[in-house]
Amino acid sequence: MSLSRGDGFVHLADYRAPAWRVLHAGLVFELDPAATTVESVLSLEPDPARPGQPVTLDGEGLELLAIELDGRALGGDGYAYDGHQLTILDPGRACELRTRVRIHPDANTRLEGLYQSGRLLLTQCEAQGFRRITFMADRPDVMPRWRITLRAARDAFPVLLANGNPVSSRGLGDGRHEAVWENPHPTPAYLFAIAAGELGRVTKTLRTAEGREVELNVWAEPGDVERCRYALGAVERSLRWDERRFGRGYDLDVFNVVAAQDFTMGAMENKGLNIFNARYILADEATATDADFLAIESVVAHEYLHNWSGNRVTLRDWFQLSLKEGLTVFRDTEFSSDLHSRALKRIEVVRLLRGRQFAEDAGALAHPVRPDRYKEISNFYTLTIYEKGAEIIRVLHTLVGEDTFRAGMDRYFADNDGKAATLEDFLAAHAAASGRDLAQFARWYAQAGTPELAIRADFDAASGDYTLTIDQHTPATPGQPEKQPLLIPLRFALYDADGGEITTPPEADAVVREGMAELTAARHVLRWRGLRGRPLPAFNHGFAAPVKLQVDYSVDELARLARLERDAFNRWDLLQRLATDALLGAAHAEAATQTLSDVLADLLEDTSADPAFVAECLALPDFDTLAEQVDEVDVEALVGRREELLDRLAEDQVERLQSRYEALADVAAGGLDGPEMSARALRNACLSWLTRLDPQAALAEAQFAAANTMTARLAALRCLLHFQAPGAEAALAAFQQQFRHDPLVTDKWIALVATRPHPEALADVEALMASNWWKATNPNRVRALLGSFARSNPLGFHRRDGAGYRLVATQVASLDAINPQVAARLLGAFESWRRWTAPHRGPAREALAALEGKLGSPDGRDLLERLLG
Ligand code: PHE
Ligand code: ZN
Repeated sequence: MSLSRGDGFVHLADYRAPAWRVLHAGLVFELDPAATTVESVLSLEPDPARPGQPVTLDGEGLELLAIELDGRALGGDGYAYDGHQLTILDPGRACELRTRVRIHPDANTRLEGLYQSGRLLLTQCEAQGFRRITFMADRPDVMPRWRITLRAARDAFPVLLANGNPVSSRGLGDGRHEAVWENPHPTPAYLFAIAAGELGRVTKTLRTAEGREVELNVWAEPGDVERCRYALGAVERSLRWDERRFGRGYDLDVFNVVAAQDFTMGAMENKGLNIFNARYILADEATATDADFLAIESVVAHEYLHNWSGNRVTLRDWFQLSLKEGLTVFRDTEFSSDLHSRALKRIEVVRLLRGRQFAEDAGALAHPVRPDRYKEISNFYTLTIYEKGAEIIRVLHTLVGEDTFRAGMDRYFADNDGKAATLEDFLAAHAAASGRDLAQFARWYAQAGTPELAIRADFDAASGDYTLTIDQHTPATPGQPEKQPLLIPLRFALYDADGGEITTPPEADAVVREGMAELTAARHVLRWRGLRGRPLPAFNHGFAAPVKLQVDYSVDELARLARLERDAFNRWDLLQRLATDALLGAAHAEAATQTLSDVLADLLEDTSADPAFVAECLALPDFDTLAEQVDEVDVEALVGRREELLDRLAEDQVERLQSRYEALADVAAGGLDGPEMSARALRNACLSWLTRLDPQAALAEAQFAAANTMTARLAALRCLLHFQAPGAEAALAAFQQQFRHDPLVTDKWIALVATRPHPEALADVEALMASNWWKATNPNRVRALLGSFARSNPLGFHRRDGAGYRLVATQVASLDAINPQVAARLLGAFESWRRWTAPHRGPAREALAALEGKLGSPDGRDLLERLLG
């Protein structure tokens, strides 16, 4: 695709199939951190439908050493290279292009292309990093088969990994050695990977359901190998689950996973060679929290599951990004839900949606799940593409049911295997399997913004007529002033005075089946006749539709619902609603607070409820979720009210909190089984509530001193630091010292310091930036310090004097020159700035304006333009 319109955007509508295909890529790497040479032989074939086109290949900043076409060196008149694109006059026939280039991994701080991390050499190619390694039609619809030869000094690089299956290895006699890999599956360049260096592994061989013997390996630097065992188990569970639930098998002889300390994103699904941010691999109970273990398992599953949703069926172009990401998030979420608690997983996802994705969808950076234009694709690895994309798949699943969904997936995989697909291909497969017209459903992909459903209930006591009037509305977003109605499956239930469910279907101008209305128009009316009393309605069970609901409930109704609802997710959701009413000053705030306290008391006394679920219920809506629900965000007032409510609730519950805390001590002592993790979750929630009542934080100090899991230790340290307990400094110093050689654990205390809920946390952040702990080239460290500060410390980031904004903006400018993707993500913390109250808006605008002209990368410039635009 070319920027043919001259407007700086790539447009979906401008897509053209490649004029030249690359059938095979043979690469030989002479690996060296300072100067690596890459020899490439590409077998090129013209599209007969488009004769006369030159060969154009991407290549970013490559030092071209040699170039030959079909064995003949090309002179300066045979090709042109401008530092971005290599052009060769139409050879007129299939041909073989040989090039040799030199690149410099040790100078690569972008961590895109081939780079150095510690003593390892690694690659990261999605989305457009391969062009920094050698020349290629670097677009996902060009899918060569690959043969990759790696040569390097044996002592520094004893392990040489690449995509596909190992073919051979040999010594080269001069202290160097060579490994050859072959990837027989047609694979786009963004899935290319190599990893070289001193790596150790944990390994397991298994036989797939189809009878293939597969070696699973998880690799890390030698000192970290023991901490790879949990991830290896997660790989095996993922493989088995995809066989069972989707009928998808693994398709190579080896599956390699490598952990890297320097990695911009979470992990990458390269064919047969996943490369991971070490934080999503390395774990044991002494250094990783329960949340870390669960995150590791879900990211491992995510990358593994991409082997079908992303790799075997890949993308035609980057506009289709959610075709692999939304679908794979849906799949990994189902994996976690099948293996653990479905309700807890749903709670986790809904918190992320309401707290972060809704804000993205309502802010300056809002975009459709399938954008129709972009300037820099790296800026579209967003919660909207991933999480909203997954929710849309879930909507489809809800509409058609599991069996039909599975049939649609089978068809999608069968029809598109080995191809580069579009969302239309996906929808066509599901339309065929379900017999449904999915045209209106497809609007979910085109339209940005979170849909809102306003529901009004009317009851006529005389006739017993009850109507629900449902109005659908999606707010305007940048570039999309007008919206059309979406197809929304709305779950509902009506309860009568005795708490029985009214199962009579309503008269409706929408398709209604058991407890679900398919909304298609801006307004629908559901009508029941002859009811004996005013019923109590409930909606959107399991958050089946990713929408905002406006329903007026009295506190009594909410209290009744909280008792009627048996489903765990819905109970949690009602408590969130009660807490929101208590916080956001609804006229009945005090009554809501009292009811919330009563329900929490019941929950804390209910020893049959999953303690982790009770812990989720104790966690009130976070700042982001609340901020999303007000027109103008008054930061201090919002944080202040939330703290007051927590204080009040904690006082009400103090005895119950103490007794649960003590009773769970034995189960919580160690182990990774569900009940053990659950016990720790509730204990830590209790600890946090109890610590706010005790200025000495005696319990937290005791837990910190006695802890034998990272989960217990870190929760105690958080309490000590965030409630500014007398023992905080000493505990922090001990923790720093104990884990000073472990960068991942170091990131944990740094994030705690950066999120201390106080405007003066800014000074601590600045002090850390001036210390040896600061590593601007390490994305995890940047996120731990600056990402946590900007995204999770409202009182620090939003200081009245603007110092929080200035600090972050200044750092964005310097990080932009090091790693533009990391810098751009940090800049995203300003996405909602227009909704902040005036005293914040002004300084925020100034901090952003001061960045103009200071950002060299397209990533940063694109975001800044949209933020200020
Ligand atoms: N494709 C990766 C994933 O979702 C994310 C990623 C994107 C990693 C871009 C690196 C670069 O699993
Ligand atoms: Zn992914």
